[in-house]
Amino acid sequence: MQILVGIITISDRASGGEYADLGGPAVKTAAEGHGWRVHSEAIIPDEMTPIQETIRAFSAQGCGLILTTGGTGIAARDVTPEAIRAIMRVELPGFGEAMRMESMKITANAILSRGLAAVVEQSLVIGLPGKPSGAVECLGIVAGAIPHAVALAQRVPTSC
Ligand code: MTE
Repeated sequence: MQILVGIITISDRASGGEYADLGGPAVKTAAEGHGWRVHSEAIIPDEMTPIQETIRAFSAQGCGLILTTGGTGIAARDVTPEAIRAIMRVELPGFGEAMRMESMKITANAILSRGLAAVVEQSLVIGLPGKPSGAVECLGIVAGAIPHAVALAQRVPTSC
């Protein structure tokens, strides 16, 4: 099954043109390295409504996997977990737990991320940290479970 991916960079400064988006391209290269096809990309500010609308739009476009990068921390504008949780059907807590536990072996600051995964509509949504290397590290940590999780989210018959 070909996995179609949507990538959303969530950053006030990148969306405002203050600096170039490095997280989206880093996640795109990593996703393609896993053999998945990147179908949709967006750079949006740290705000609930654009986050939710973009996730829903990418899901409607057929993206079985939606990767967000940014807004998972504790800065005043970080609302990615809240935005995803407000529209999800179920959360997959293991993704966030594994991302934090394994990333702690790389940097103690990993504990500052509230990264998460959830099913929204028929898509698996994974909220990765904003630092490009951190986003790629976290994606690598959970990548093994993604094909099966996407198939379940899309209700494609699959065997474990
Ligand atoms: N996870 C990994 N694997 N590698 C990292 O470098 N950076 C951390 C953390 N998770 C990091 C990481 C830092 S410094 C922060 S502040 C949090 O993610 C939240 O980042 P965000 O608010 O940009 O999403």
